[in-house]
Formats: sequence, structure tokens, C-alpha cells
Amino acid sequence: MINFKELSKKYKTPLYVYDFENIKKNYLELKDAFKARKSLVCYAVKANSNLSVLKLLAELEAGADCVSMGEVKRAMYAGIPKYKIIFSGVGKRDDEIEEAILRDILMINIESEAEFDRVELIAAKLEKSARISIRVNPDIDAKTHPYISTGLNENKFGVDTENAKKLYIRAKNSNYIEPVGIHFHIGSQLTDLKPIEEASSIVASMLRQLKVLDIDIKFFDIGGGIGIKYEDEETIKPYDYAQAVLATLKGTDVTVVCEPGRYIVGNSGYFLTSVLYEKENSSKRFVVVDGGMNDLLRPSLYKAYHAIEAVNAKGKTSKCDVVGPVCESGDFFAKDVELPKLKNGDLLVIKSAGAYGFTMSSNYNSRGRAAEVAIEEGNDRLIRRRENFEDLIRLEKEYL
Ligand code: LLP
Repeated sequence: MINFKELSKKYKTPLYVYDFENIKKNYLELKDAFKARKSLVCYAVKANSNLSVLKLLAELEAGADCVSMGEVKRAMYAGIPKYKIIFSGVGKRDDEIEEAILRDILMINIESEAEFDRVELIAAKLEKSARISIRVNPDIDAKTHPYISTGLNENKFGVDTENAKKLYIRAKNSNYIEPVGIHFHIGSQLTDLKPIEEASSIVASMLRQLKVLDIDIKFFDIGGGIGIKYEDEETIKPYDYAQAVLATLKGTDVTVVCEPGRYIVGNSGYFLTSVLYEKENSSKRFVVVDGGMNDLLRPSLYKAYHAIEAVNAKGKTSKCDVVGPVCESGDFFAKDVELPKLKNGDLLVIKSAGAYGFTMSSNYNSRGRAAEVAIEEGNDRLIRRRENFEDLIRLEKEYL
């Protein structure tokens, strides 16, 4: 059991706490689920990009799925080898493409014909060959929140199957593009296996068609997206996930790549915030805390549910909104939750905050970002110090 009260005293709040044993367990569980095949788990760095988290995964031999050169550099800095790094994303700048080619990463995941043109041009200029995969949009409804659903034609991601095929043929005939992978990712926080199975089957059939055209794809990248339990969701088990995908790949000889983010870190993280005070008006009870939407944006942005536990507070509960100090009505962590009467200094633990928590934080309202702490073998360790006022003005003060 993690002693949250101790941690909040030692490191102050707001604070992120990550259970490294749990991260390790989740990673190994997924890796193990694919053991019947050659596989590579490329952790989605965007979910939680703290260097110590990346180093832990590097030591477990994970690869990385990155969506900016910043993420690629982070992953390499933390020890993830270049040959396990994928660079995805709909909008890559020329300098990022150039650097990805020069750094010789595993593959650049191309999301449009226009991007294909840029990559080919830049590779030609460098007189190098760029290893690529193409993100196929299988036009599948992933049945998740519309903001994190990506596999429908109405979404900005990927290339439809017909155009993807044309791009692979172009790649085959190009001196500067080497097609090594095929990719899809239909959305995040997926709790239904069916759409993944369908997407995998569509993309696997394309893989077979490419083989006939003598285009030999080595990596079958199924993206990320496995959901976690925030509340009472039924979630997909890694074994069932792997079996469903592998069933679509019979008779092929590809390395399966997956890009989980949330699954690995989501339930391994906690956000700790202290109560400042309560406030009540004729219709509502508010619990005002020291953390805000700048620290953990998911409730404000997606109305996402995060369970909240009041540590050490007991007694009769009543409904309240848990709100932060930021000057926005949207600055809340929960609405109408049952909590006991709270006073200054009481601690709240916001659960399942390990994915898309710290990485989506900002300095809005000139608030320094929270500190981050790792729990490893029962010991706690600071892995990012709290931002202070100096940090906030560092990039501006010389221009005064
Ligand atoms: N691969 C690709 C190409 C992706 O776009 C994503 C997530 C992942 C992998 C990892 O997905 P995961 O396994 O974590 O579901 N901020 C949102 C989530 C955005 C996900 C974006 N792409 C949230 O807080 O729910």
C-alpha cells in the first residue's frame, strides 16, 4: 500500500505519484501476451513521458512510439535504442523528418500522400533511404469518446486502403523510401475488442495483397488504445487482445508491434491534491483543492471520470463538486461526488492519473507544474521537481 499521506507531507501537493512495479507488471503482461510471435511493444510516450518512466521501460526492452522529435529525443535520452523507435503523427515538420532519417530510427509512420512526398524529397536530398510504414485508416468505428476515436474516414488520421496501396507501390519503386511496416490505430480507451479485430483483419488482408505485389512488410503495427478501468468499465484482457490480432495474421511472417500508452501507465498513477477549504451556496457544495485543470485536464476536456478518495477523512458523506483554483468554470475534477466533510489540509487522491495527466499539464494561470514521484520496491524517489517561479520566467526575463 502506498502511504499517500506521508508522500504529501514529504513532497507537498499537488503531486503525481507513479507505482513503477505496476508499470512493469502491465508492460510484461502485454509483452507476454504476444509471445507466440516476434513482437515489439513500443510504449506511446505521449501518455507519460517522464524520463524515469521511459528509462524503466527501456530497461525492460520496450520500444517507443513518438509523435514529435521531442518525444524521439526523450526516448533515446532515456536509453531506448533507435531501432525500436517509431515516429508517428499527422503533421511532421521538414526538420523533424530530416532528423528522424538521420537518427536512423526504426520507421517513420506516414499519414498522407503529401507527407510521403516530403519524406521522399528529404530522403533524396540526404541521399538516404527512409524506412516507413503507412497508417491505414480502416474506416472502423472504435466506439469510444469522439475526441479519441481515430479510425473513421471522418477523422484526420491515416490514409484509406486504396490510397495506401498506391503509396506502397510508389514506395516500392522509389530509391529513397523503403516500406517496412503497415500501421493502424483506431482510437484510445477501447473497451470493445470487435472493432480492433475488424481493423486488424482489414489491414492483414492488405498485408497479404502487398506480399503478392512483392512488397515485403516486416512490421504489423496495431497501434495502441487498450482501455483501462476508470470506473466500472469491462476492459480487454491482453491475452484476448493478442489472440484476436494473431488470428488475423495466420500464414504471415511479421513482427507484431503494439503502441500501448494508457494501459501501461494509466492505473499506475495517482494525482494527490490537498483541500484548501469548502464553500457552499444555496444549491451546491464545493470542495476547493490546490490542484487544477492545468495539472490534470482530462475531467475538464473530456468530462472524464477519475475516482477520488479522501484519505483519512471519515463521517457522513454528501454530494459535492471538487474544483481547482484556476479561473475557469471548467476547472473541476469531479461533479456531484459523495465525499465526507473536508477541512484545510485534508488529502484527496485522484486515481488512474498516470496516463495523459502530467503530459497534458500546462502553466495556465502561471502555476508551476506539479512534482512527480516514483515508488520503487517500497521506496519513493523524486523524478521531477516542482516547477518554481524562476522556471516560469526563465525564457522571458532576458527580454525585459
Ligand atoms: N498510437 C497512436 C498512433 C496514438 O495516436 C495513440 C494515442 C497511442 C498509440 C496510444 O494510445 P493509448 O494506448 O494510450 O490509448 N489525451 C487522451 C488520449 C489521446 C490519445 C492519442 N493517441 C486522453 O486523455 O484520454
